[in-house]
Amino acid sequence: MADSLALFGGAPARTTPFNVEPMVDGAEEEMVLRAVREKNFSRYIGSVMPNMEDVLRMPSAEAASLSEYWHFLGGENVRQFSAGFAAKMGAKYAIPINAATTGISVALAAARVGPGDEVIVPAISYTATGSAVLLFNSIPVFVDVEPDTFCIDPKKVEEAITPRTKAILPVHLTGNVANMDALNDIADRHGLVVIEDAAQAPGAKWRDRMVGTIGKAGVFSLQQSKNIMTGEGGMIVTDDPELARRARLIINHGEVVFEPDDDPSDMENIIGCNFRMPELCAAVGRAQLEKLDTVNDWRSRNADILREELSGLPGIDLPPSQRHGNGPAEDVPHLFVALHNAEAMGCSRAVFVAALRAEGIPVGTGYLRTMYANPTFLNRVAYGAKGCPWTCNGGGSPDWPVYEAGMCPVAESLLEEKFLWFYHIAHPSTEQDMRDIGRAVKKVVAERANLAGLTQADLGALAKKSQGRIGT
Ligand SMILES: Cc1ncc(COP(=O)(O)O)c(C=O)c1O
Repeated sequence: MADSLALFGGAPARTTPFNVEPMVDGAEEEMVLRAVREKNFSRYIGSVMPNMEDVLRMPSAEAASLSEYWHFLGGENVRQFSAGFAAKMGAKYAIPINAATTGISVALAAARVGPGDEVIVPAISYTATGSAVLLFNSIPVFVDVEPDTFCIDPKKVEEAITPRTKAILPVHLTGNVANMDALNDIADRHGLVVIEDAAQAPGAKWRDRMVGTIGKAGVFSLQQSKNIMTGEGGMIVTDDPELARRARLIINHGEVVFEPDDDPSDMENIIGCNFRMPELCAAVGRAQLEKLDTVNDWRSRNADILREELSGLPGIDLPPSQRHGNGPAEDVPHLFVALHNAEAMGCSRAVFVAALRAEGIPVGTGYLRTMYANPTFLNRVAYGAKGCPWTCNGGGSPDWPVYEAGMCPVAESLLEEKFLWFYHIAHPSTEQDMRDIGRAVKKVVAERANLAGLTQADLGALAKKSQGRIGT
């Protein structure tokens, strides 16, 4: 076959750039303008109200309509967004926060997970999941993931439990759903708390219940790249009044609420944080929430088209979609994941990716490394330079978790050799965009014999021929 690959100087399969942007229209604009006109930027005032404890335990739906309580639970947009989000997810409480990263820290802290407690975390996630555990001086313990869902492997969770374990922090990665029955069962048997990182999975379900509401609490990200967004932001959901109360205190300078004769044990982890969501972000969020189903359908439709395009191709493995199976999980694809099969493709993932990028197709390879391979963990440097929190909780434990290459082989192989992440299933990508991705992948697959044996050095030289597109 004539060699037409763009990597070798041929015409690329696609020259129009791809785009990903949030679905924003006049609704967001109107909400924000209204807030600005009403001078509604933040209605928080750090002072105690007569019925403070009632306010702190008030379900989001009730809090929305009680305007006299605005000063601790936020202004109109924050409280209305909270009520709408809680209703959508089927939770009693939704607590708006400035990011999912702080949301994870706060949910753990509100559940009284603190210094020296171990939190079991999957080896693969955005770095925030592992780092968030450190904020209140807890210790992340990384375990391997399942090869098909990329979510935490319950068997590995069980093996990682020690007397110090306090929590399990599953991540519903790429919109897939972790095995919540198995995780809740382990948690029940060992007296652990489950906090779900649902940053990438708003609307995904487990046994017809929204993820985020299956564990003790769940955390969503509303950062711009997420399915719905507020620019930066997040949401904690829970049905537990005490967790909600404590989370509201932690994010709102809750120390102002305490009196000298209050029980000091109630003050645990309430240390003067301000992690509030601004009113303007909540205004955007209220409009975005109305679009959750639409944007999820958008991503799902494109994921299905891409699945159709890529299925059956040699060298491309497609893990089954949870949405189309008969199992308890129903994913909402945050992005589309295919797996490179080097043996069948006849070349390394790096070479295949370079060839596909040269064709004008943006494709990612997942996160740079497992979370435990981040220098923070490898070097154990977080607070100060002397190893805190690993060393500062009673001088450290000789059997703190080890962070080293090789400890989670499934995760390492996914990140180093297999993951092909297609982000462009998101709005505003069209069916035609998916067909173009399919056409380009098929082109590279058809000509894969020409890729065999190429090295990293060869790719450097070829980058010139492909006009730099390899690096995009
Ligand atoms: C799985 C996961 N957890 C946590 C976060 C952190 O979210 P945020 O940026 O809102 O802090 C992200 C963000 O990308 C994420 O993907």
